[in-house]
Amino acid sequence: MKKRDIQQRNAAAAKADTLIEALPWINQMNGKTFVIKYGGSAMEDIELCRRVVADIELMKLMGVRVVLVHGGGKAINALLTRLDVPVKFKDGLRVTDPDTMEVVREVLVGKVNQELVWELNEYGHNAVGISGADGKTLKAEAIDPELGRVGRIREVDTNLIETILDDGYIPVVASVGCGPDGFFNINADVAADKIAEAMGADKLIYLTDVDGLLEDVNDPDSLIAQMTRSEVHELLDSGTLEGGMVPKIRSVADALDAGVSQVVIVNGKAEHSLLLEIFTDAGCGTMFTQDL
Ligand SMILES: Nc1ncnc2c1ncn2[C@@H]1O[C@H](COP(=O)(O)OP(=O)(O)OP(=O)(O)O)[C@@H](O)[C@H]1O
Ligand SMILES: [Mg+2]
Repeated sequence: MKKRDIQQRNAAAAKADTLIEALPWINQMNGKTFVIKYGGSAMEDIELCRRVVADIELMKLMGVRVVLVHGGGKAINALLTRLDVPVKFKDGLRVTDPDTMEVVREVLVGKVNQELVWELNEYGHNAVGISGADGKTLKAEAIDPELGRVGRIREVDTNLIETILDDGYIPVVASVGCGPDGFFNINADVAADKIAEAMGADKLIYLTDVDGLLEDVNDPDSLIAQMTRSEVHELLDSGTLEGGMVPKIRSVADALDAGVSQVVIVNGKAEHSLLLEIFTDAGCGTMFTQDL
């Protein structure tokens, strides 16, 4: 005879509750398109990276068409520093001279992209790594001579991404664009937004290294749970944002303006934040919606 362990039973019941709570979402997942931008800062710890990859696998199993776009800011800084190339930012965007552009390509396309593809493949996916130059996915042009090779996206051609998805692969996009005169460094937040807009994505998810948008960047308890499109524009107009949040929140506003119904910022370093955001009532990061 073996007695039932009550604690074990309660833990199992809690898991069952979670599954039941997720049911309505699971039902809605099939055929949806989610663009996920995975921030370089959140990618550094291999164990955390594996958990994110596992979450993505679950989403794919539920029939979500997942497009992954990645940054690599910290890895680019590390190589630039090693090569004695100065690291400079203006309004959250990397000032990109030709030497820096070469490093951006080497790190984003050659290293970060391939590592993510490898991780996904290890989990049984078939991931395909591309850069925005492949299939002319991200056609770009210069923004401002002071920023050098930083590009604005002129046009997104979604054909290659759609083909990869239709064949059952996960496209993993490095945010490098191209134009007639060469390559451009595209901020990955902007690339994810423009790809989401062009694909008519149902959701745009920013996985970063903080819990979401903080009202006060120095106070981790000031996490904003939800914000509407008008409130996002008010925040941008106030000019109070700084660092990497500037392009991110601008991209949030652009995505909402273009009709993407939901954008979320979640912590890619917190365990299963992706699944919590998608499959629970409470969510966990900051959710941006159209005006209510
Ligand atoms: N109000 C704010 N709330 C939250 N984070 C903020 C805020 N203002 C500035 N930040 C900074 O923005 C950073 C996130 O942007 P960052 O560009 O560094 O990462 P990422 O976009 O996820 O990665 P990558 O740029 O490599 O793609 C946070 O680590 C934080 O320091
Ligand atoms: Mg960034």
